[in-house]
Amino acid sequence: MGDKVFNFAIIGCGVIAPNHAEGIVHTPNARLVAVADIVEEKARSFAQKYNCDWYLDYKELLDRPDIDIVNICTPSGLHPEMAIEAMKRGKHVITEKPMAITLEQADAMISASKEYKRKLACIFQRRTQSVFKKIKEVVSQGAIGKLILGDAYMKYFRSQAYYDSGDWRGTWALDGGGALMNQGIHCIDLMQWIMGEVGSVFAYTRTLARRIEVEDTAVAVLEYKNGAIGIIEGTTSVVPGFDHRLEFHGVDGSILVDGERIARWEVPGVELKLEPEVTVGSTASDPRAVGYRGHMLLIQDMIDAIKNNRDPLITGEEGKKALKIILAIYKSSKERKEVYLDTL
Ligand SMILES: NC(=O)c1ccc[n+]([C@@H]2O[C@H](COP(=O)([O-])OP(=O)(O)OC[C@H]3O[C@@H](n4cnc5c(N)ncnc54)[C@H](O)[C@@H]3O)[C@@H](O)[C@H]2O)c1
Repeated sequence: MGDKVFNFAIIGCGVIAPNHAEGIVHTPNARLVAVADIVEEKARSFAQKYNCDWYLDYKELLDRPDIDIVNICTPSGLHPEMAIEAMKRGKHVITEKPMAITLEQADAMISASKEYKRKLACIFQRRTQSVFKKIKEVVSQGAIGKLILGDAYMKYFRSQAYYDSGDWRGTWALDGGGALMNQGIHCIDLMQWIMGEVGSVFAYTRTLARRIEVEDTAVAVLEYKNGAIGIIEGTTSVVPGFDHRLEFHGVDGSILVDGERIARWEVPGVELKLEPEVTVGSTASDPRAVGYRGHMLLIQDMIDAIKNNRDPLITGEEGKKALKIILAIYKSSKERKEVYLDTL
């Protein structure tokens, strides 16, 4: 399998699809052979740019036996149906975040991956960044001691025009939520990855500034299973939009992150040395600023996982964790009570 060329297809040719396409074309032994979008102009121009075939009906694309891996870049609520159909037809799947917008759908995807013996990988590209890998490593090794506080502040800006730019944006049916389910999920994933599993949440979610069904602002208090506590704040409604801040505190040290860089590194006896990497743009007020490097690394990880018959870096089970925290936050706000994640 050493020299096998892996054929990729992308479903959904919108904002995030170019990250997948660039990630594929910059990967050795990977080739983008087809794309699908229900909007003909989008499918056609994307295919022209990347010199591949295009389809209007994703099921026709899935009929092609030469496709090994399908990257799903459609509105979030459509990921499960498309991922399951692709796995059923023998394709491995890389899905954008959130993998699904309900736990039942996420579980169905995980079951399909087992049943059809296909790999299912979720995109949380920040997990590939040296900054976050380093923090995960030192916190896991106990370098800041017993964990005390883990906080994420995600004060972003998305205009009403952003929400109006796609019928699905800001809807329960297809976005599955707002400031947390769409934008905040990346840092919520990082928090639980680094701090450990969340046990319970108490939250307020509100729609304060945008004409959307879902929340544009949320605050949650968390208790991690290891006893640490923390805060999540997420909004898409503050001007001008700020880089997120992540704060990790243990009894022996602290690490503060501002955007994609370390603002304070107070880790006793551990010098901060990061692998060099291409700078990642700020998405505080511009969702298009996200670079393709993280997507490329997860695409390369999928190829390696197939070749070595191992799990991808971010499996369905991993992808589900941040989703579960966010759904617990929504439930807590709705029911005005603390929600224990194990009861979901
Ligand atoms: N990883 C990241 O940082 C990141 C950033 C942005 C978006 N996303 C995720 O990517 C997904 C897409 O977001 P986007 O901003 O690119 O949205 P978008 O609206 O720009 O693109 C979605 C595309 O899917 C197409 N589509 C809709 N229904 C389809 C169907 N049945 N078959 C084929 N194509 C269909 C639409 O026509 C559109 O071109 C979402 O799940 C979002 O959460 C991830």
